[in-house]
Amino acid sequence: MAAVAAVAVRGAQGGRRCCLWLRISRKVTPSWHSSSFFSSSSVPTTKLFIDGKFVESKTNEWIDIHNPATNEVVGHVPKATQSEMEAAVASCKKSFQNWSETSILSRQQVFLRYQQLIKDNLKEISKLITLEQGKTLADAEGDVFRGLQVVEHACSVTSLMLGETLPSITKDMDTYTYRLPLGVCAGIAPFNFPAMIPLWMFPMAMVCGNTFLMKPSERVPGALMFLAKLLQDAGAPDGTLNIIHGQHEAVNFICEHPDIKAISFVGSNQAGEYIYERGSKHGKRVQANMGAKNHGVVMPDANKENTLNQLVGAAFGAAGQRCMALSTAILVGEAKQWLPELVERAKKLRVNAGDQPGADLGPLISPQAKERVCQLIDSGAKEGANVLLDGRNIRVKGFENGNFVGPTILAKVKPNMTCYKEEIFGPVLVVLEANTLDEAIEIINENPYGNGTAIFTTNGATARKYSHLVDVGQIGVNVPIPVPLPMFSFTGSRGSFRGDTNFYGKQGVQFYTQLKTITSQWKEEDATDAKPAVVMPTMGN
Ligand SMILES: *[C@@H]1O[C@H](CO)[C@@H](O)[C@H](O)[C@H]1NC(C)=O
Ligand SMILES: *[C@@H]1O[C@H](CO)[C@@H](O)[C@H](O)[C@H]1NC(C)=O
Ligand SMILES: *[C@@H]1O[C@H](CO)[C@@H](O)[C@H](O)[C@H]1NC(C)=O
Repeated sequence: MAAVAAVAVRGAQGGRRCCLWLRISRKVTPSWHSSSFFSSSSVPTTKLFIDGKFVESKTNEWIDIHNPATNEVVGHVPKATQSEMEAAVASCKKSFQNWSETSILSRQQVFLRYQQLIKDNLKEISKLITLEQGKTLADAEGDVFRGLQVVEHACSVTSLMLGETLPSITKDMDTYTYRLPLGVCAGIAPFNFPAMIPLWMFPMAMVCGNTFLMKPSERVPGALMFLAKLLQDAGAPDGTLNIIHGQHEAVNFICEHPDIKAISFVGSNQAGEYIYERGSKHGKRVQANMGAKNHGVVMPDANKENTLNQLVGAAFGAAGQRCMALSTAILVGEAKQWLPELVERAKKLRVNAGDQPGADLGPLISPQAKERVCQLIDSGAKEGANVLLDGRNIRVKGFENGNFVGPTILAKVKPNMTCYKEEIFGPVLVVLEANTLDEAIEIINENPYGNGTAIFTTNGATARKYSHLVDVGQIGVNVPIPVPLPMFSFTGSRGSFRGDTNFYGKQGVQFYTQLKTITSQWKEEDATDAKPAVVMPTMGN
C-alpha cells in the first residue's frame, strides 16, 4: 500500500512558476497565440497555421488545454471550421507544385537550417511540452531530441531518394527509376510525444517534396506550433506546412479529402483501425502505429543491477505513457526472487510536477486517463494479482489536483487477466513468471501486439535464440526501449501496426514517395559530338 512519497518543492510556488513561465514565454514567441494571451483574465488561444500565417479560428467551439499537474486551464484550442480545414488543404495543394519542383538541394538546405533552429530552441519547446503534457523537463527534452534526430536524418535526402538503374537491358536501352513525392500528405499525432511524433512525419514528407497538413493532439498543440514557426524561419515557403486543430471532425476530414494522398497516424488502436479503414477506403496510403504491450524477459543470468534499473526506468519513465514503455516483465526461473528489490527501486522514484527539480515521473494526461489506469489496477487486484506497490492514492504536495498515479507493480499476473490484456498506459508494471525461456516466448507470441520487447541476459546464445523466435518488430538485447535511430525504421508489427510501410528511415522515404520507371533507348548511331563544358557546374534551385 506504500503510496510513493512525493518531494514537492513548495507546491504553491510551483503553480506560480508555471504562470510566470507563461508570461515570459509569450514575450519570446507569441506569434501563434492570440493577443488575448496578454490579458490577465483570459488564457491564450492557439492559432491555426494556414498558408504561412498564424490565424485565429472563427469557430465557436473551443477545447480547453489543461496543465496535467494542476488541471488548470492553460490555453484553448479551436475546432477548426470546415472552411478553415478546406483552406488548409487548398494551401497545401497550391504550394505543392512549386515545392516539389524546388531542387532537392534547396529543400535539404531548409532542413539543415531547421535542425539548427530546433537545437537552439530545444529548452523552450521542452517547457511547453511539460506545461501541456506533464512529463518531466528531462523527458520533454528527450522528446524533442528524438524528433530532432529524424530532422537530421531528413537532411540526407540526397542519398535517400536515389533511384535505381539497370543499364543495357538490351542494346542501347536502359531502365531507371525516380522517386517522386505524392502530393499533399497529412499527419495525425497523439498526446504522448508532442514534438517527436510530428517530427517523425512532416520533415521526412516535406524534404521528399510533399506538402503537409498536420493535426496535433488537441491536448498538446503548443510544441507543434512552435516547431511550425521555426520551420517558417528556416525558409519553408508559405503553404508547405499547414496546421489544423480539432477532434473527430478533423480526423474524418483528413480521411476523406480527395486531395490528401497519404496519412501517417500514431495513437490508440481504436483510432488507428478506424483511420486505416476509412483512409484506405478513400484511396489513401495509411501507416498507423498503434497500441502496444511490450514485454521485458528477465533471465536469471542477467546482470541484476543493470536489469533492475533498466526495468524501473522503462516501466515508469514518462509515467508509462509511451507505447514503447516496458509495461510487462516476465521473470524466468530464479529471476523471480528479484521482485522485492524491483519494488524497492520503484519506491524510490519521485513523483512530482514535471517542472519541479528532481521529478522522475509526472502526472497522467487527464483525470479520465488516471481513472482508467486506477480501474485497471483495481481489476488486477480483483482478478488475483498481488499489488506489491500501489500508486493509486498518491498525493503530491502542492499539486493535489494533478492526475498523478505513483509507480505500481502487479505481480502474479496471468495472461487471462484484464490488466495484462489491456494496454494500461500508466506507471504500472505487470509481472508474470515463466519457468523457461520457451514459456516466456510463447506468452509473448500469443499477445496480439508486436511493438517492442527486450531480453536481459548475459548469454549471447539465449539472446540470439530469443531474437530469432520472438514475433515482435523491435527487439532490445539488454536495451529496454529499442526505438531505432532514424537511419533504421520504426518497425512495430502485428497488432501494433496497420499499413505496410513503416515510419522514418528508408521505409519512411518509401511511404512518402512513389516510383516512376523509365525505359529509354538512345541509339548509339544517333550520338553527336558536343563541345565540352569547361565551367564547373553549380546546382541548386
Ligand atoms: C517557390 O519555392 C521557392 C524555393 O523554395 C521559394 O523561394 C518561393 O518563395 C516559392 N514560391 C511560392 C509562390 O511559394
Ligand atoms: C509503439 O511505440 C511507439 C513509440 O512510443 C508508439 O508511438 C506507437 O504507436 C507504438 N506502436 C507501433 C506499432 O509502433
Ligand atoms: C484465468 O484462468 C484461470 C485458470 O484457467 C481461472 O481460474 C481464472 O478464473 C481466470 N481468470 C480470469 C480473470 O478470467
